[in-house]
Amino acid sequence: MASKILAFLLLFLPFELLHHSNAQSWIQSGFWRTNSVIAASEVNSALFTHLICAFADVDNSTYQLSIPSSDVSIFSNFTDSVKRKNPSIVTLLSIWAGQAQTYQSTFGQIPNSTVLSSMASQPSHRKSFIESSIKTAKLFGFHGLDLSWVWPSTASDLINLGTLLEEWRAAINSESRNSNKTRLILTMKVPYVPTLHSVSYPVDSIRRNLDWANVVAYDYYVSTRVNFTGAHAALYDPSSNISTDFGIREWTRKGLPASKLVLGLPYHGHAWRLVNPDENGVGAPASRSGLTSDGSMSYWYIKFYIRRFSNGAAKLYNATYVVNYYTFGANWIGYDDVETIKAKVSYAKEKKLLGYFVSQVSNDENGVLSLAAAQKDVEDNQNKRLLMIILLPIAMVIFILGFMLCYLRRWVLKSKGNESLSNSDAPNLQVFRFADIVVATNNFSIENKLGEGGCGPVYKAYDLWKDGKGMEFMDPSLDDEFSSCKLMTCMQVALLCVQEKPADRPSMLEVSSMLKNETAAMVMPKRPGFSIKTDEDERNNSGLQQVICSNEATVSQILPQ
Ligand SMILES: *[C@@H]1O[C@H](CO)[C@@H](O)[C@H](O)[C@H]1NC(C)=O
Ligand SMILES: *[C@@H]1O[C@H](CO)[C@@H](O)[C@H](O)[C@H]1NC(C)=O
Ligand SMILES: *[C@@H]1O[C@H](CO)[C@@H](O)[C@H](O)[C@H]1NC(C)=O
Ligand SMILES: *[C@@H]1O[C@H](CO)[C@@H](O)[C@H](O)[C@H]1NC(C)=O
Ligand SMILES: *[C@@H]1O[C@H](CO)[C@@H](O)[C@H](O)[C@H]1NC(C)=O
Ligand SMILES: *[C@@H]1O[C@H](CO)[C@@H](O)[C@H](O)[C@H]1NC(C)=O
Ligand SMILES: *[C@@H]1O[C@H](CO)[C@@H](O)[C@H](O)[C@H]1NC(C)=O
Repeated sequence: MASKILAFLLLFLPFELLHHSNAQSWIQSGFWRTNSVIAASEVNSALFTHLICAFADVDNSTYQLSIPSSDVSIFSNFTDSVKRKNPSIVTLLSIWAGQAQTYQSTFGQIPNSTVLSSMASQPSHRKSFIESSIKTAKLFGFHGLDLSWVWPSTASDLINLGTLLEEWRAAINSESRNSNKTRLILTMKVPYVPTLHSVSYPVDSIRRNLDWANVVAYDYYVSTRVNFTGAHAALYDPSSNISTDFGIREWTRKGLPASKLVLGLPYHGHAWRLVNPDENGVGAPASRSGLTSDGSMSYWYIKFYIRRFSNGAAKLYNATYVVNYYTFGANWIGYDDVETIKAKVSYAKEKKLLGYFVSQVSNDENGVLSLAAAQKDVEDNQNKRLLMIILLPIAMVIFILGFMLCYLRRWVLKSKGNESLSNSDAPNLQVFRFADIVVATNNFSIENKLGEGGCGPVYKAYDLWKDGKGMEFMDPSLDDEFSSCKLMTCMQVALLCVQEKPADRPSMLEVSSMLKNETAAMVMPKRPGFSIKTDEDERNNSGLQQVICSNEATVSQILPQ
């Protein structure tokens, strides 16, 4: 039994740790837009595993990808640019029908993509779109494709989306087979819950056909829609279901495994104007902010604004919602700062999600947030590595010890079994008695440690044995008055085993033969090494003696099975 546990520990513990510290299995991705304030080559791509170049458009008549002529050179240089700081970076091209009209939803002002809706509805449109997307990705050197359809608006859109993903994946697989090249990655943005206007997302198709889904876990509240200060990317919400945690649980409940979910981290916040500046918590009455046109602000602009115009208002953190906010005068800005980002990355790991994506990379201030998110990862990996360095040798030692003890035990049992076929009880009894005495010796030493110091009872046992009163030392539970000579033999062997000089201690072979009474004359034990009456020199070795004591404890562990 013990050996099985030990083998399990040895075989699976390091494997588990290795498995979890495998960097490739953790996605750290980010959206970068062609109109960003920082060029692709300036992005610190070392903080990411994947970067997503956004956006390619869709032509409203041919349904092929269309890339604005001004963006062509940026797209074609993107992969090479970001590879300079991180040669193993993986790049994706994101598709969004950006020119679509917009409409109001629970998520605020969002595009109603009639182009994508129409594309997904017809087999010939889908075919044109899919072929063109694969060709474009290959042409510009991207490793994958992302669909940013925010959001399908009807039940039929969602059904068509399921079909689109099915056909898209089949085309990507077949392209990979034909070209003998690594197949393209396929991902898409999904809302924080798997339901839109009470219609369910095609979860099954998503699970089968996407490499992962990017969960848009932000913009839950915007100042143009609600008249209270909202935690727009709340991780938790005690009073409603509009929270990231609820959404993630819903996705997994509907059948999308956590390992297919990548958590969205917003690099922007939303501002409100407080009705009463003294009432400034999350959920306080408020109206539209005048700070920006729609109240949304990038992280770097929030930081800039605070420094420039508000005498460095103090940053607040609400751990109930997991949100940072600033409040100054009647202004209130809710956003994700370093604490929030770190808490969310921890959450993603805890829930065994596949990773995170940031939206968008260039809204960061000198990479502070990306560093916080990635640093978290580095810390966790370091902890795991440290844990492995400590646990692996311990597991090895435990395993080797366990193996030796199991081997010895089997050896003792086996040799006894060979001897006395006539008396089937005897061999086991003797082994158990020997074990009991060792256990008893240990128990005495533990109980009397304070009173007599170290292994005094062994010394006591020796004195009793020497005076022929060994039975007084025996634990009454052994209750074996009829075979006291056997017990005395065991005690003698036990005392021999704790002799001070290693040369005086019997080998396991000798122990076995002594227990079998093979040797007529047994060696007489001398005063054991575990005496409190040691002289100064020996006291210096007390550390060693403690180790020997605790070795006994290990020996006694496997025997009373
Ligand atoms: C298609 O897009 C072009 C420009 O991109 C626009 O002028 C035209 O009105 C659009 N057509 C439809 C039907 O939306
Ligand atoms: C893209 O790369 C080409 C050559 O490789 C270069 O001439 C061009 O200026 C680059 N464009 C950008 C936007 O960096
Ligand atoms: C989206 O656009 C389509 C086509 O114009 C329209 O039928 C539909 O009602 C729109 N959806 C919303 C939510 O506005
Ligand atoms: C495909 O690639 C592999 C190695 O990358 C090579 O061994 C194989 O011959 C290639 N097959 C074809 C049909 O090109
Ligand atoms: C703000 O809330 C009040 C009371 O709930 C409501 O009557 C009002 O219409 C809301 N204002 C806006 C702009 O939504
Ligand atoms: C949240 O969702 C659960 C079920 O998923 C439902 O029972 C509950 O009523 C919802 N709560 C709110 C406040 O909508
Ligand atoms: C977070 O905000 C809510 C609402 O304003 C408040 O009730 C709660 O106590 C706050 N939690 C923390 C930890 O500050």
